Amino acid sequence: MAKKNIDWANLGFGYVQTEKRYVSNFKNGSWDEGTLTSDATITLNECAGVLQYAQTVFEGLKAYTTEDGHIVTFRPDLNASRLKSSAERLEIPVFPEDRFVDAIVQTVAANEDYVPPYGSGATLYIRPYIFGTNPVIGVKPADEYQFRVFTTPVGPYFKGGVRPLTIRVSDFDRAAPHGTGHIKAGLNYAMSLHAIVSAHNEGYDENLYLDPATRTKVEETGGANFIFVSKDGKVVTPKSDSILPSITRRSLIHVAKEYLGLEVEEREVYLSELKDMAECGLCGTAAVISPVGKIVDHGNEICFPSGMNEMGPVTQKLLNTLTGIQMGRIEAPEGWIKVIK
Ligand code: PLP
Ligand code: COI
Repeated sequence: MAKKNIDWANLGFGYVQTEKRYVSNFKNGSWDEGTLTSDATITLNECAGVLQYAQTVFEGLKAYTTEDGHIVTFRPDLNASRLKSSAERLEIPVFPEDRFVDAIVQTVAANEDYVPPYGSGATLYIRPYIFGTNPVIGVKPADEYQFRVFTTPVGPYFKGGVRPLTIRVSDFDRAAPHGTGHIKAGLNYAMSLHAIVSAHNEGYDENLYLDPATRTKVEETGGANFIFVSKDGKVVTPKSDSILPSITRRSLIHVAKEYLGLEVEEREVYLSELKDMAECGLCGTAAVISPVGKIVDHGNEICFPSGMNEMGPVTQKLLNTLTGIQMGRIEAPEGWIKVIK
């Protein structure tokens, strides 16, 4: 086995086909035993549930090469339980959580040569998902599903790597009150495509979505949660029933409290408060922690004192500690690291 000849340092966040993927099918009320396959193509009936009514949920996590040469993933049990919540909300049968973790381990191990080397700046992104496969024309859940896991080596999510981002407050909503904003369903991302294209066309990196009920509170972006640092050094992060419960954010709260001794407030955050924040970052598996320099609210610019030119000092410490844990430089809390090889 030898690492693939890939220019790891210059990878963007894109799809590179790797050798193996895991597939399990659900039929007659149960999941089959599952297998690894080399076939990257899916053949579906024209009327498949996923094609007609977007019945699909997914996850995202990464595999890392540690400083001492192991291949690990980060808290895959939390992805398993979030996929379960997402599936339940869309009437998709749950893929058993222990089998989910086993499928991740098998898929990463089978694509070992694509796991970027330690220090390369790249990681192996893992995409597990479930979708309805049988024909569905009346609006109802499918009876048959596929669970699949593929991997792709990736670099930074935002073009240009780690640099302060400029975000605009979106006039579109990403989620509805009591809707599906808290689960990882493809439909939430389809909803955001027009908003992201128009944000990019207008020179912004991302959209800040407001709470759909009152449009006064900060929710999240299309693919990451927010972390703020107040001028008195507290870590402040929005709490809402309509945002995705980010595993990165939940981990950063622990890191901030237990590793860095910082005070953390998880609470509703009003748009009107942002002018009083010192630092802002986007956090997620793909985003890791990406610093935000400026948020533009209909011509009104909110510039964070730290972060216009480089990452703020607290954001930087959070990033260093989190990635240190993921890459094995800093001891992880019990159960956070799943060693694959
Ligand atoms: N919010 C949204 C909408 C996302 O798509 C993601 C990515 O998964 C996140 C937040 C971050 O979640 P996590 O840290 O679990 O990757
Ligand atoms: C992730 O961070 O894993 C996501 O799924 C976000 C997506 C926008 C790539």
